[in-house]
Order: sequence, then structure tokens, then C-alpha cells
Amino acid sequence: MEHAFRATLLWFDDMGGQSSMRWEEDGLLVVGPGHAPGEPRRVVAVGAWSALASVYGHLPITHWPGRLISPGFVDLHIHYPQTDVIGSPADGLLPWLENYTFPHESRFHDPAYAAQVAEVFLDELQRHGVTTALTFATSHPASVDALMAAGQARGIKLVAGKVLQDRHSPDGVRDETEQSLIDTEQLIQRWHGQGRLGYAITPRFAPSCSDAQMRGAAELAARYPDVWIQSHVAENVDEVRWVQSLYPSARSYLDVYASFGLLRQRAVYAHCIHLDDTDRQLMRETGAVAAVSPTSNLFLGSGFFDMHSADRVGFRYGLASDVGGGTSFCPFHTMLAAYYVGRASVTGGGLPKTGVSLPPSRLWWLHTAGAAQAMGLGGVVGNLAPGCEADFVVINPQAKPLLARKWAQASSVEEALFALIVMGDDRVIEHVHVAG
Ligand code: GUN
Ligand code: ZN
Repeated sequence: MEHAFRATLLWFDDMGGQSSMRWEEDGLLVVGPGHAPGEPRRVVAVGAWSALASVYGHLPITHWPGRLISPGFVDLHIHYPQTDVIGSPADGLLPWLENYTFPHESRFHDPAYAAQVAEVFLDELQRHGVTTALTFATSHPASVDALMAAGQARGIKLVAGKVLQDRHSPDGVRDETEQSLIDTEQLIQRWHGQGRLGYAITPRFAPSCSDAQMRGAAELAARYPDVWIQSHVAENVDEVRWVQSLYPSARSYLDVYASFGLLRQRAVYAHCIHLDDTDRQLMRETGAVAAVSPTSNLFLGSGFFDMHSADRVGFRYGLASDVGGGTSFCPFHTMLAAYYVGRASVTGGGLPKTGVSLPPSRLWWLHTAGAAQAMGLGGVVGNLAPGCEADFVVINPQAKPLLARKWAQASSVEEALFALIVMGDDRVIEHVHVAG
């Protein structure tokens, strides 16, 4: 049965960046019925109440005065097994992995533990209005099964994969080359395309994968072209040096992935901080994209993603939490951190330049429709244009007293969105509607 929702509406016109944001103060969102089990409900119409009431006014209507409906947020890079790793301090990425992350991830050999954390993780995503996530599991196949089963039961849009790491990894998380590839293929066949679920081939990062494992991952990626690839690249200077020593003849860290054939459409690389323009061109030409994770980059002291150079060369990126290197599931916190990084960016051979003030509508796009587009899911999730899967959040700016004041005083849409980005958190997410 169709259902309509009346509130202030935010969505995006096809394709574009900030200028494409649409805003309807008194809007109507019409959602169709799912046609079959597992088939998501889709947006039928979106627009002004005054324009749509004559056609859809007879439907059951939920009216949320004073509330904002936005597309659900898309988290382009997160680690579900690191839900309890948030806030573990270390002197940078490599000691953080060794002292906290690997020991913690080793617990996911236990399916019961994995299933329990999967539920907590999905609760946190939904509580924060995140309705699509591209997530790492651990190297244990059971960790993927646990998350996928839990996600399927909730009808949430999830893309996940078993981590590949057959070297430079401690007992408990290190996998075995041949078995890891067999497991990956079995998991693809079990989960990819089941309802709203997708699979991502997941080499952890170049230092943790043997050449044979990287080759095997690339062979699977070629055999299953609509499966995703996810990994990390050029996050931290010690990591970059390590890759240089492992691959002395590679032109760059990114080039290692390129040489194995792991850059393509639907390949999402977290961080992409220490790139040069040749790398950026490689990203653009192959269709690989960056998952920009500013709270993680600030927390681990990794550096700043250079949005200006990414835009200049023209490769795609979207926003991500990178929990547990990232400090929060909250999309507002991630957007605010991206704003800080934009303000502070140092570009041009280390010479400080004046940072940019990213408009809030662009930050919002980078965490919804833009992130979806980077994943190859433009027009599917992250937006409320007709035909999109109806994942949306209902935001209540009255939920925090100071935000309510600021919201009331905003003299433009951009000011109102800025107030949410700076002052919003999970308390303002009043409802989350999942299409599945
Ligand atoms: N590089 C390799 N593994 C990881 C991880 O789990 N988190 C982050 N931030 N970087 C990584
Ligand atoms: Zn990560």
C-alpha cells in the first residue's frame, strides 16, 4: 500500500553536486509498496505538498510538522568489528592496529560473539540515521555470515566482506592464502545480491596481503564485476614507507593495487591522503573512488584528505566514519570534521593555502547521494528522487534547545543545515525508515 509523509524535504536532483540540492519547506514524499519479499519500497513522488496533494492527498499520510526528512546517510567505509575499538589511543595507525585492533578482531572467530556485535553495530547505524554501509568484517568467514544474516533480517542496505590478510598479521587474524580465496568466493555466492546485500572483496591493505592473495583477489574481482572491492591506501606516512620497502619498484602505494588489477569501478579505497597527481589521475581513469574519513584521520593523526586536488583532477569520493579509527557513527560529526579539514587543508607542496569553506549542502551530498554515486548506487540509495529505494531519516531540530534556537533564526537553507551539522547528534534523529 502506498503511504505519504508530509514534512520539510531535502533531496537531490540527479547527478550534480551542491547546486542540485532540492528543498521543500512543506513537502510530500510518497512511498510505494514493496512488490515481493525482499523487494524494497521505492519513492513514487517527491515535491511540494501544494503540488502533490490533489493526486496523493487520499493516501494515508503521516504528518511531521517542524521536522526535516532527508535521505538516509551512506557510510562509505566502516569496520563493524571495530564497534568497541572506538577511542583507543595510539601513536598512529600501525601501533593502533597491533595493540588494539588485531587483538580485538581475533574475537570474531566466535560466531556467537560476531552475531552479538553485529546487532549492536546495526543498532548504532540506524540510531544515527545511516541506512547504507560499506563495511569490513574480519578475516573470519563467520563474521560475514553473522553480519549479513542480521542485516537481511532488518532489510538494511549493506555491502560487506571477509578481510584478506595472509601476512604481517598476528595469529588469530592471519588467514591462509588459498583458503581465504575459496572462502571469499563462497561468501560471494552465498550473499551477493541476496535481497539488499552486496559483497565486497576486502584485501585489508597491501602490507597484509601476499602477492598470491592480491592476485587471487583481482581474479575474483574480474570474475564477479558487480561485486565491490574495498581496501585502504596512503593513510599514514609510516604505512606508506612500509609499502615502499615492500614494493621498491612500484611508482607509488596506489600503483601497487593498480599493478594487481584492483582499481576499477566499485573499488572503494579508504583515506587516499598521501597521493600525488599521477595517483589521482589513476583513480579517475580506473573509476576507483576514495572513502574520506576525517574523524579517523584526525584521531590517528594520519593527515588531511585533499579535496581541492581531488576535484581538480576529478576523481570521486564520499564521506565515511571509518569506525573504529573514526570516533563516531554520527554523520553530523563526520560532516563537521570534513568541514574542519577543508578549512585547514594544506596543499601545494606543503605551502599553506587558505582553506575552503565547504557548503553544508555539499557536505550533506557527500554523505548521501554523492557517497551512493561513488559506490555505483546513484539513483538507488542516498536520495529521495522518484525510483530511489525509500531509506530516509526524520530529523527533529527541536530535540536540542540551542539547536532549536539556531534553527529558528536561520535565514537560509544553508544556515539551517550548518546548524544541524555543527550541533546535531543522534538525539535529533527521530525516525529512520528503511526501505527493505
Ligand atoms: N589499514 C589497515 N587496516 C586498517 C584498519 O582497520 N583501520 C584503518 N584506519 N586503517 C587500516
Ligand atoms: Zn578502515
